[in-house]
Amino acid sequence: MYIKEIELNNFRNYKEQKVSFSKGVNIFIGKNAQGKTNLLEGIYLNAFGKSFKNVKDKELIRFGEEYCKIKTISENEEGENTTEIAIRNDGRKGIKKDGVKIKRASELLDRIYIIIFSPEDLRIVKDEPEKRRKFINRELCQIRAGYLYDLNEYNRVLKQRNVYLKEKNIDEDMLDIWDRQLAACGTRIIRKRKQFIERIDEISRNIHYGITDGKERLALKYESNVPASANTEEDFYEILIATREDDIRNGTTGRGPHRDDFSINADAIDLRRFGSQGQQRTAALSLKLSEIKIIEEEKGEKPVLLLDDVLSELDNDRQVMLINSLGENQMFITTTEIIESVAEKLPKGKYFKIVEGQVATEI
Ligand SMILES: Nc1ncnc2c1ncn2[C@@H]1O[C@H](COP(=O)(O)OP(=O)(O)OP(=O)(O)O)[C@@H](O)[C@H]1O
Ligand SMILES: [Mg+2]
Repeated sequence: MYIKEIELNNFRNYKEQKVSFSKGVNIFIGKNAQGKTNLLEGIYLNAFGKSFKNVKDKELIRFGEEYCKIKTISENEEGENTTEIAIRNDGRKGIKKDGVKIKRASELLDRIYIIIFSPEDLRIVKDEPEKRRKFINRELCQIRAGYLYDLNEYNRVLKQRNVYLKEKNIDEDMLDIWDRQLAACGTRIIRKRKQFIERIDEISRNIHYGITDGKERLALKYESNVPASANTEEDFYEILIATREDDIRNGTTGRGPHRDDFSINADAIDLRRFGSQGQQRTAALSLKLSEIKIIEEEKGEKPVLLLDDVLSELDNDRQVMLINSLGENQMFITTTEIIESVAEKLPKGKYFKIVEGQVATEI
């Protein structure tokens, strides 16, 4: 499956724009603030139903306009598929898959698989645990049916519980209902995340070994703040009961996958804390490259890769290494400039120039 075309209407700084893509590499060159990231955001939006940025839907509408519309056409052996998203400034949002309205954005998730590499992704090793959880969540939403549902349910209940914990008079029966729900979704979330990290651990070790010329042995481990001995819903529930007093005192829920993390070690060194910047970035690349493999394995599809400004974050050697390790996936690469020696290494593709929300094809 590859993305053949995108049509943007009043989306971010685009007024009306249609772009046809190459099946292979697509390179977007433009100065700062021209619309490079916005274009990738449009592509991402039509695959996930929401932006990779933490924004409200209506912020995606071009300033001063009433609505925006993004349409993509993708193609596989069976033919063409279309996805359309329309957002209005009263907050209403409509999604269509092949012309038919769908209720949940999650119905889009089985259509096209996307992995995004942004400067932010290169910081996942050194950043706070929340970023690493986001990394896991994004991938699991694509490969595990039901994961997004559990995650949304968990977050919804957690939010209610946390609000309630701040009240003066607490009815423990009320808490009990939520605790049961948290335990049910939470256990499933932890189980899937653990399996995922185990798989990434296996795959990334080889990749990382290659990238570092055999110098570093990477090891990942899921770190749950719900003890490893707690494997069942009942165990999780017991923990919530045991920590209930603390939770009431603190006015928040202390235990659960919303506080989890995973460790990234090179040999015996915890790269999150002690890795050099280069080591942290290289490990982040290994993780991202492993994601590609997992999707290919699980879904039998090559994911589409969005590389937003990452080349400029890497030194020349790492740029070439990254490009060499990306396969025949469809790729969207944005950059302010392309270095000759790197361009030579890129598989054949299409070049575009972006100026003030206008995309022009270059030869
Ligand atoms: N809703 C919106 N309506 C109109 N313009 C917007 C909207 N949201 C963002 N923009 C503008 O779009 C412009 C391009 O943003 P974008 O992030 O795509 O730039 P870029 O080409 O990726 O730049 P950089 O190289 O700095 O990353 C920005 O100047 C931004 O202010
Ligand atoms: Mg950008």
